[in-house]
Order: sequence, then structure tokens, then C-alpha cells
Amino acid sequence: MALCQNRRDFIGIAFGGVATVGGILALGAMKKSWDPLPSVQSAGFVTVDLSLVAEGEMKTLQWRGKPIFILRKTADTPRNEQRDVLVGEKVFTLVVGLCTHLGCIPYYEEKSKVFKCACHGGEFDASGMNTFGPPPRPLDIPPFKIEGEKLVLGEEGMEYKKIMAKKA
Ligand code: FES
Repeated sequence: MALCQNRRDFIGIAFGGVATVGGILALGAMKKSWDPLPSVQSAGFVTVDLSLVAEGEMKTLQWRGKPIFILRKTADTPRNEQRDVLVGEKVFTLVVGLCTHLGCIPYYEEKSKVFKCACHGGEFDASGMNTFGPPPRPLDIPPFKIEGEKLVLGEEGMEYKKIMAKKA
């Protein structure tokens, strides 16, 4: 009986250990896919090197606990003068990746160039404008600043203020 008890304890401890290691590995993998861009983080600011984003590429990173989408538009991606972030010749969409309906995280469908929300079928165009379904407004634009080819999230730069002024 004592042996059985010990064996059960051993199996319990071994299983717990495997589950813990598995959990840590899964968290590591999640972090890797969540923050694929090398970024520098300090005091609520995140600096991202936009020169690493290829044409047509969509990157997701985390800023203040929120997903941030950075999409570099291709020549055939529709433009939006009110919302596009221009860095030299390059054109980006920069938005908070939370659906403005109930906060689900949409995904970007490259083929249709649409952000789709799986929760209730909401859709946003490649500039983050709500185009279909229940979302009541466009995807939010986080405060940002452009320094050369660097994007600083969390600071209200000239480009951000211009976009906000056009919205008003
Ligand atoms: S949360 Fe996105 S459509 Fe409802």
C-alpha cells in the first residue's frame, strides 16, 4: 500500500514536472510569435525598426498589453491619406489589433487585404477602417512617433498628431 502510495506520488510529481516544463516552453513559443520584431522596450515605450518589415508583411507586437499590428502596404494595397503612416516611400498601417466591437483580435487576410474578426464577422480594410459587420468604428491608432526608420510606440509625435487632427 505504501509502495502504491509512493508510486502514485512519484507519478503525480513527474506529471507535474512535465506539465510545468511544457507550460514554460509554450509560453516561450507564444512570446516568440507575439513579438517577432526586435524591439526595445522601456518605460511604456517600444521602439521598432521599420526597415525590417518587408513589403506586404504584417507584424504583430505587444505594447502595454495590447496587440499592435504593423502592415507595410504594397503598391496595390488601397491607400488612406487620413490614416497611412509614411516613412519615406514606405506606407504603413499602424493599429491596435483589438476589434472595436467587443475586443477580439482580428487577423489579416493578405489575399483580400482585409482584417477579419472571427468573433462576430466584423471586417476592416487594410487601413483599419470598419467596412462590415458590428464594429462601430475603425481600429484605433496607438500614439506613436517616427524617428528616421524607427517607430516609437507610446509617444505622440508629429505624424500621430497629424492623423488625429484629420480625424477631428
Ligand atoms: S468582437 Fe469583432 S465583430 Fe464582435
